This record gives sequence, structure tokens and C-alpha cells, in this order.
Amino acid sequence: MNQLKKTAAAVLKGNWQQGFTIPCQGLYPFQWNWDSGFIALGWAHLEPEYAQQEIRSLLKGQWSNGFLPHIVFHNPADSYYPGPEVHAANLSPHSPEVPTSGITQPPVLGFILEYILNRLDKDQAFLDFIDEVYDAVYANHEYFYTHRDPQQEGLVYICHNWEAGTDNTPVWDFIWDTFEVPKYDLPRKDTSLIDASHRPTNAEYCYYIHLIELFKEWNYNDTTIAAQSPFLIQDPLFNSMLIASNNSLIRLGALLGKAQQVAQLEAWNIKAKQRFNEKLFDPELGGYVYYDLRGERRLSHLSSSSFTPLFAEIPGQEMASSLMNHLDGGRFSGEQFERLLCASFDPTSDLFNSQKYWRGPIWINLNWLIYEGLLNYGRTDLAQRLKTDTLALLDKYGFYEYFECDREKNKSLSQGYGGNNFSWSAALCLDLLKSNQ
Ligand code: DGY
Repeated sequence: MNQLKKTAAAVLKGNWQQGFTIPCQGLYPFQWNWDSGFIALGWAHLEPEYAQQEIRSLLKGQWSNGFLPHIVFHNPADSYYPGPEVHAANLSPHSPEVPTSGITQPPVLGFILEYILNRLDKDQAFLDFIDEVYDAVYANHEYFYTHRDPQQEGLVYICHNWEAGTDNTPVWDFIWDTFEVPKYDLPRKDTSLIDASHRPTNAEYCYYIHLIELFKEWNYNDTTIAAQSPFLIQDPLFNSMLIASNNSLIRLGALLGKAQQVAQLEAWNIKAKQRFNEKLFDPELGGYVYYDLRGERRLSHLSSSSFTPLFAEIPGQEMASSLMNHLDGGRFSGEQFERLLCASFDPTSDLFNSQKYWRGPIWINLNWLIYEGLLNYGRTDLAQRLKTDTLALLDKYGFYEYFECDREKNKSLSQGYGGNNFSWSAALCLDLLKSNQ
């Protein structure tokens, strides 16, 4: 394990750029929003000062309305498409000086701050840092509840698949079916950097770029996007991250004497958790699913996102048990436990693909979230299995971006999938090695 820790540390150090960490050389050469949160947690185990710098750098990209973009382009780099000129976030009157994208990512900062504080045994210097950034993180939550919840029901929407983080989950296939897009010229870089069969297709990229083109036409105006975007989804992962961050900001706010913000966060959370259980739990599937606000329908497919409400302590015991059954001898593990936990999409579905990005492979950040979620519900046995599976993959292959879930196939593989030396795989490995279970 010592060796694993050393290699993980070397990955983070190799990706450090004087103030922030890129997710992966070449493939992702800028600062990414939710990556940075997980990476900061990794730095807490090595260089807590870097964790602070990481978060400060991300917040430099925050817009004046509280919005936090999914990429901050601190530095030039020509190995990534679409870069800052494609996103053109400066069309929004709220965008900051530093170039950013105009879409967001799952809001992890609130709970990351609390995790780091706990991992550092409530270190006063880190609590002072939380005091410094608390209002900025709170402003991001206020942005979501003000601008991304048109029915004022406690659930926020995402308007782009890249906002989900689960970029090409098969769930989006059902959205792409509802509208047509031009055939764009796509100067993609990713498909020549790594095995193209592990990445989304060009046909999918045309949808991704088209949505950005629409948002630019609308100057990234939230009201227009809510009224007109063909992609408007209530995502169980995204909303779980927001609710978990609310949970943490409530506890941290109490420590810091932020009574007014705490009261508001509590009000948001009560409404959010109730509506989440009513609207996003599919009783037939026994799990949480995505909701298409445009088509007013549930998208009834299980994915690793379905389990993340455990992390945010949203389900009661009954719903939690039905989630765990999928992991414990159910479709995600297989009856004979022939699958490692946890595939990113339902392995029994026709749409599952064990090598293609978010259409099936195992991702370390989702495993970490589900691991912590299982601990929240006292399932240390299942949490331990998830942790063992995760560390075995990292130990065998190194810090790839994603991994094969089929136990048998893993016997003959010598590599993981996607990019290598991937920062959050390393950062969360460090955290898993440190946690008590
Ligand atoms: C990519 O380019 O694949 C990223 O996930 C977008 O944020």
C-alpha cells in the first residue's frame, strides 16, 4: 500500500501547475470544477496548503452571479477541444476576467471543505480558510436555487451533458432523440490522444457543441436557457452533490456563526430532499433516475448516479435497502459477484458498454461517493467490498481515468481505460487509503 500511496502522490505532483492541478496531461490541460474538489481532498493528505490553493484558483473563475464554471482556462493549451474561444463565456455580463466555460459541473465544494477539515482533525488554519471561501461557495448554491429551479420545487436542472459530469451516459440518448443538430466540423484532440473507442462519438459531440452554440446565441442568459434549451434535466447525481454540500455548509456555517445562511440552507434542503424522493425515485426499478423537464418524464435507467443519494443522506431505510440490493448480488454485482463495483451504467442493459467512458466503466470518484454513502447507512461490509474492488483496480493498472467492471475480462487486461495518470483517481485513492474502514 505504501507503493500505491507513493505513485498516487507522484501523479498529483506531476499534474500540479503552480496553483491548481490539471486532471490529466494532454487530455484535460486546464482546471476542471468537480475534479478540483476531489483533487483538493487528495492534496489534504499530502500538502494541505495546495488544497487551499486549488480551491482559491477555482474560485477565481466564479461569475458575479455566483455561477461556477466547469472549466477555468488559466493557461493556454492547444491539446483540448473545445477551448475558451468555443465557449466564449465573455458573452455573459457575469463572466470574470479569466476565461472560463459557460456551463457548470456537480457542486462538490461544500462537502469537500468539510471532508478536508475532518481529515485534518479540525485544523484551525483550515477552518480559517473555510471562513474565507464560505460566502463564495454559498453564493454558488444561491445561484442554483435562484436560476436553475424554474418550478421552485427544490430540484435544480442541468442544461448540458457536460454539466452532469457523466458526459455520455446512455440516458442522454433519449434526449438526443428529441431534436436535430447540424453536422459540425469537430477539431477534436481527445480521439488522437487516447483510444477513440473509449470516447464519445462525433455524432454525440455535435449535440454537445450545438448546445454551447445555442447558449452563446442567448448570451448564457439563464431565463432564456430555462425557457428554450432542448436539454433540461434534473439529475440525481448533480442534485445529490448540491444537497450533500448543503448538509456540509449547514454544519460548517454553525461552526462559523453564519446563522442566516444556515437557516436558508436548511430551508432549501428540507424541500429538496422531499421532492427528490417523490420525483426521482423509480419504484419499479428500485432506484433513483434522471428526470427530463422538457419532456416531463422520468428516464428510467439505473446508473452509478442512482446510488449517490446515499452520500447526501436522502433515502430513508427502505429506499436505501433497495439501492443496496442492486450492489449486493443484484444487477450491478451480478448474482455470483462476477462484476466489480460499481459500473457507471446498468450492466444488464443493452445500452451498456464496458469500455466507453460513462456508458459502463467504473469511475473512482463515483466509487468514492458510493463508498462514503454506504458508510452513512452503516453498510460497512458492502463499503469494504467496494473499497477492495477499487484499490485492486488501482493497484493492478495504476491511475487510469476509468476501468473494466467484468471480473473475468480483468484477468486478461493489462491497462485501464481513458487517460492515464488521472488526478482524481490518485487523489481519492489517497483518501481511501486513509479512511478507517
Ligand atoms: C471532456 O472534454 O470530455 C470533458 O469531460 C468535458 O468537460
